[in-house]
Amino acid sequence: MEPDVAKPAIQRPCDSAAHEGPRAAAPAVIDLRGVAKHYDAAAGPVPVLAGVDLTIVQGEAVALKGVSGSGKSTLLHILGAIERPDGGTVNVCGQDLVGLDARAQTSFRARQIGFVFQFFNLIPTLTARENVIAALEPLGGTRSSRDETAVCALRSVGLGDHIDKYPAQLSGGEQQRVAIARAVAKRPPVLLADEPTGALDETTARQVLALLDAVRREHGCAVVIATHDPAVAAHVDRVVRLERGRLVGEFP
Ligand SMILES: Nc1ncnc2c1ncn2[C@@H]1O[C@H](COP(=O)(O)OP(=O)(O)OP(=O)(O)O)[C@@H](O)[C@H]1O
Ligand SMILES: [Mg+2]
Repeated sequence: MEPDVAKPAIQRPCDSAAHEGPRAAAPAVIDLRGVAKHYDAAAGPVPVLAGVDLTIVQGEAVALKGVSGSGKSTLLHILGAIERPDGGTVNVCGQDLVGLDARAQTSFRARQIGFVFQFFNLIPTLTARENVIAALEPLGGTRSSRDETAVCALRSVGLGDHIDKYPAQLSGGEQQRVAIARAVAKRPPVLLADEPTGALDETTARQVLALLDAVRREHGCAVVIATHDPAVAAHVDRVVRLERGRLVGEFP
């Protein structure tokens, strides 16, 4: 079903109790309070986030919208322990991310976060199988169990016939499927996707969104998709928008 993009959105605080549904019962996986972030540029500090509050529960999918430069990627990086905020609290999977040192950030990311990027970010010298295995290595286990998990993940995204191909031998849509398999093979509780359809044609983009949907339903992970793509709205529970450094909710 096509999203009703023409319908004007009702703006409410993004954590409005008026938004019912699966959120009511499920535990929070992501909880941000008063998150602030600026970058230092030659011309002075660039404020990006100015007090972001957001709660996302287990199994919930949220689209993160906002004009270019509004801070979507910055917010995903904070959620994924790639960057630290200047202020506020960030709790993901019960872990306070603000206090983590670089080593603990890396370990947290490896275990708890699956990332999907616009341009797939596959390692070009590794096959699809090896790309997925590389993401499983920090978690330990045996070589054969990692291989089995990787093959299983690639089959689950419909790439059973492409397991030993290199990224250059795959289409954009197939590469994004490998990236999704890599992100979810470790069964992370949080899946973060930064413009996952931005480099894909419309048909392939819809297939990738349907796949993200299927993955979420199967694994029960929380999903945050930063996007400009109006088609994403049909695949999430909720859309939030970054405006002037804060989040506002949109409920159609
Ligand atoms: N590492 C950095 N150093 C300095 N400024 C940065 C850095 N990363 C982001 N910025 C600035 O922060 C602002 C927000 O950037 P961000 O990439 O989060 O926006 P975005 O909403 O993801 O944009 P887009 O839709 O174009 O991807 C921009 O003004 C950007 O120039
Ligand atoms: Mg971005």
